[in-house]
Amino acid sequence: MLLLASAVAIMEAPTLLWLLLVQLAGALALLPETDAVAGTRTRTCGFQVLFNFGDSNSDTGGASAALLEVNEPNGETFFGHPSGRRCDGRLIIDFVAESLKLPYLSPYLDSLDTNFRHGVNFATGGSSIRPGGYSPFHLSIQINQFIRFKSRVEDLYAKFKGGNQQLLGKLPRPQDFSEALYTLDIGQNDLSYGFQYTTQKQVRASIPDILTQFSHAVHQLYEQGARFFWIHNTGPIGCLPYSILYDRSKPGNLDKIGCVEPQNKVARRFNTELKRTVRELREQLTEAALTYVDVYSIKYEIVSQAKNLGFMEPTNFCCRSSIFGDAVNCGKREVVNGTVRENLCAHPSKHVSWDGIHYSEAANKWVVTKILNGSSSSPPVPIDAACRA
Ligand SMILES: *[C@@H]1O[C@H](CO)[C@@H](O)[C@H](O)[C@H]1NC(C)=O
Ligand SMILES: *[C@@H]1O[C@H](CO)[C@@H](O)[C@H](O)[C@H]1NC(C)=O
Repeated sequence: MLLLASAVAIMEAPTLLWLLLVQLAGALALLPETDAVAGTRTRTCGFQVLFNFGDSNSDTGGASAALLEVNEPNGETFFGHPSGRRCDGRLIIDFVAESLKLPYLSPYLDSLDTNFRHGVNFATGGSSIRPGGYSPFHLSIQINQFIRFKSRVEDLYAKFKGGNQQLLGKLPRPQDFSEALYTLDIGQNDLSYGFQYTTQKQVRASIPDILTQFSHAVHQLYEQGARFFWIHNTGPIGCLPYSILYDRSKPGNLDKIGCVEPQNKVARRFNTELKRTVRELREQLTEAALTYVDVYSIKYEIVSQAKNLGFMEPTNFCCRSSIFGDAVNCGKREVVNGTVRENLCAHPSKHVSWDGIHYSEAANKWVVTKILNGSSSSPPVPIDAACRA
């Protein structure tokens, strides 16, 4: 495997170098298995296009375009202005795009200054898998949008036959749909909406139906030609400061690191069932490569290790607002009864949580280093080799 990879990688090199490297590759092939595994990382899939589906964890401006604009100080760390992301900077999906050497994804719903040549982001804040949650753009709507997008691209290619680069140059090519990477990070809002409006028992009982709908969505993408899937499980929702502030009350509710254990237990149950669903999908969709990524463990690790990693107390989040009882919203400076009140966040990178619900850029960056190289995925392939999962 390694020999083949190296030979392919240097196909255009001068013969002498080629021979040298083939010898080197031969020598490396004799090394123990761990090195052989590292070697497979050089066999990248060369993804040129990324299609993402999800909620605010990966929304790069969808909800901002369609519903309500995300305001300052969101975006302050990296973009220098609100960028449609509920974060001070980049999200996991932005680091995914960076690692694949692709531009950040334009939101499908944005009508201005978009470029879809290397992908589309269908994720919108508040979205759930099932309809009837916080957002109208639940997963099957996102899939419908994708199907419509694909058929429009095919029509436009047929119409202009490679001409009109001004238009076609901002779209994926028809063949890209079967070669693209499809990333999904959704389900957290099904759980949090459930926790808010039903009992934990009801939330647990709803998991099979949530996953039936998830599975249906992946089938629909497959029917459209999608083959390579990178699927994030849901995070430890009980570790969000928002959950802790609202649900700590019951005795014995918090685990040893201070997270709401009953909520995390439901999230873990969701993940076990999601992993099983992904296994079934592998059997049903014989030409697909599906990678299941355990984001839960990595997010739990950053919360439990926060202080060792140089972050503040993880419940101490940066950008506070009226939903947490603050008089002045995050980033605002107001005069209240003659006194100046500020609610600024001086050091976002010192916080795991940006706004009590969403992680900071610094946290996202740390999480990404632990998921992109395959050490949290099953099968353990790095993201750029996910076509071989
Ligand atoms: C402003 O002062 C009034 C009168 O003392 C008081 O009732 C009110 O709660 C104060 N408002 C805030 C936001 O502190
Ligand atoms: C992936 O990266 C993380 C963080 O740098 C590291 O701890 C882990 O050992 C790496 N895993 C592999 C398989 O390279």
